Amino acid sequence: MSKTIIISNRLPVQLQISDGGLTAIPSVGGLATGMKSVHSGGESLWIGWSGLTDEETPPELEADIDKALEQHACAKVNLTEKEMEGFYFGFSNRTVWPLFHYFLEYSEFELEFWNTYKAVNQKFADAIIEKSNEGDTIWVHDYQLMLVPQMVREKRPNTSIGFFLHIPFPSYEIFRTLPWREEVLEGLLGSDLIGFHTYDYERHFLSSVRRLLGLEVSFNDIYLDNRVIKVDSFPMGIDYKKFKDAAIAHEQITKENRTDFQKKLDSHKASAPDTKLILSIDRLDYSKGIAKRINAFEYFLNKYPEYKEKVRLIILAVPSRSNVPQYKLLKKEIDELVGRINGELSSVNWTPIWYFYRSLPFENLIDLYTSSDIAWLTPLRDGMNLVAKEYVATRTDKTGVLILSEMAGSANEMNEALLINPNNFEQQADTLKRAITMPKEEQMARNMFLQNRLERYNVEVWANEFMGALNRKSEDNYTFVSQKMSNTILNEITEEYSKSKKRLLFLDYDGTLVGFDKDPQKASPDEELYEILDKLHQQEDTTLFLISGRDKQTFSRWFLPKHYNMIVEHGVWISRKGEEFKLLENVKGDWMEKIRPVLESFVDRTPGSFIEEKNYSMAWHYRNTDPDFGQKRATELNTVLTSLIGNDDISVLNGNKVMEVKSSNVNKGRASVRMLGEDQYDFVFAIGDDWTDEFMFQELPDSAVTVKVGLKKTQAKYHVENTKRVRDLLKQFTEQ
Ligand code: ADP
Ligand code: G6P
Repeated sequence: MSKTIIISNRLPVQLQISDGGLTAIPSVGGLATGMKSVHSGGESLWIGWSGLTDEETPPELEADIDKALEQHACAKVNLTEKEMEGFYFGFSNRTVWPLFHYFLEYSEFELEFWNTYKAVNQKFADAIIEKSNEGDTIWVHDYQLMLVPQMVREKRPNTSIGFFLHIPFPSYEIFRTLPWREEVLEGLLGSDLIGFHTYDYERHFLSSVRRLLGLEVSFNDIYLDNRVIKVDSFPMGIDYKKFKDAAIAHEQITKENRTDFQKKLDSHKASAPDTKLILSIDRLDYSKGIAKRINAFEYFLNKYPEYKEKVRLIILAVPSRSNVPQYKLLKKEIDELVGRINGELSSVNWTPIWYFYRSLPFENLIDLYTSSDIAWLTPLRDGMNLVAKEYVATRTDKTGVLILSEMAGSANEMNEALLINPNNFEQQADTLKRAITMPKEEQMARNMFLQNRLERYNVEVWANEFMGALNRKSEDNYTFVSQKMSNTILNEITEEYSKSKKRLLFLDYDGTLVGFDKDPQKASPDEELYEILDKLHQQEDTTLFLISGRDKQTFSRWFLPKHYNMIVEHGVWISRKGEEFKLLENVKGDWMEKIRPVLESFVDRTPGSFIEEKNYSMAWHYRNTDPDFGQKRATELNTVLTSLIGNDDISVLNGNKVMEVKSSNVNKGRASVRMLGEDQYDFVFAIGDDWTDEFMFQELPDSAVTVKVGLKKTQAKYHVENTKRVRDLLKQFTEQ
């Protein structure tokens, strides 16, 4: 049976050695806690790091470790201390984490970190190949493993691979500073589906793909040579029922049976019944804005001194990545801050801040969530922030106020929370006051909406939506475009070709016989191409036409000496067997004077774009512009032109990074059909890559063999991946 393979750096449990034996403790962090519920439900294997380096693992415990992990349906990837240093503490948490959370100044670009990251990603990919079968679905998680999808794809080209990023994807302006930015994107693009928590992260990613790799992006599809990659946002939910049930169970525990932790909370509450408890829980991470929060709390107490002794801030900071220098500094900073503020503001009966630096068991987490009147979460950047959702889920009587930073991904779905900018102390102080004084009815009304949403879109639904989209994507790979030209099909077509008596071939040029170049003049034919075309052209009973949108001057220079038949400007001009070009269609060009100034104004306002003027058409090229900007301008130009040309016999063609204005009665379909009518052909073949070639695919008879280059939707019968495959195909024809 096929299964789902989950891969992340951290497994849901971390192994530790104590007294010579093994203990498994649950992992902290959104990824592990969220995916744990998904994993426990189904047929899946989770591959990751055990929590122990090779050096920490006595050989005699190896088998026990495997067994302990097996109990959780997990398998391990072994990592040495040195690998952890470069991969985890290094590239993952000293380069990517700060960069993706907009802490550019903390980001270190060390070649050695990068090299180890690559090597360790390869280790994870190898483990996947070893532990999975061909039909399994692979789901890779998070920023530690961004190269894994492509590494797996290389070995398993047809496997379904999904990737989910649990942290923000930063804007292009930030991402571009990474020295290995292209490699990271290429690594991710090994996936079939790439998921983010929010639409903004998705948008940033697509923009980087367009700008850095120059790939075509249409809505949320990325077109690579031979694949389409889907990108979408799936905001991660929580195991709502688990938190709600735990809170209900918590209510029912008798006073004596409560945890020690809860008993302490109870006694504090009893001694100061009017005191409001404000809770914050985070890993000790600079992205969480803990230090700013403490400062903002001090600011609040100074602005509204009447709340002294009436509120208490509980800070639970979970130790995290403590080998990374920035985390060490942060720990020191927070220790000092808490010490100073408590020192300055405490009274005999009151300590403003309770600070815990430790990981707590789940039951104590529930103690805290259910006992606190307010949750105050102020990340400066956070991919999602599940703590916010967990707090709301535990509020069984629907009271409680959530104050949440608008920089957290979860703020997008939690509009009913009090959203704040963590840098705005004035706003935070006022919001705290508002939260403390918020009437119960308002709290309940807000939480009702929040709870309904969290219950509906829980972590299971989230995972199902992702897996559903991944499965649909895999099916799409086979159905949404025309049939892939397999070797068997090609052999059948070649056989038809060799048996036929009279053949007619239409070959588009750019994007079909040659790839695109920033400068169209540089995309000139090479020796190999001439050789293929010569052979086809010289074959008996074969009429070959190059059919292109190019101008006749360029094609005359490249191909006239070769005597190939050519149709250019989409069907305006024709040249046969080395003769000069003649008009094929009677076209008018008087509209060009009106359109030229419009195009010129777009060139002036869009750096990198230029006009190509042909005899009966004009093209505005924007391949060399900033991709987002160019696309925006193209849409604008389309609107302007369509309103300008009205009902005239002129049309606008949207090609590959080019908009062409030309007479409506000219197109490659019409031209190819005219050629077809000139003789009795029993084998007709047309191949092309863009929109303008669709006219041929539509208008040629059903018996014609029509082939699209690339994976876009098409009327052609078959598709091939790229120009190399086109040449292979034509070479096969030349051998007949
Ligand atoms: P991040 O993923 O950046 O750590 P999230 O808020 O998304 O932040 O996820 C944190 C997860 O870790 C939550 O599911 C939370 O329940 C869990 N967690 C946080 N603090 C503790 C703690 N002290 N002990 C145990 N689990 C914790
Ligand atoms: C975030 C990351 C996770 C990571 C977690 C805990 O949630 O997205 O990938 O596991 O923090 O961090 P750690 O470094 O301890 O794994």
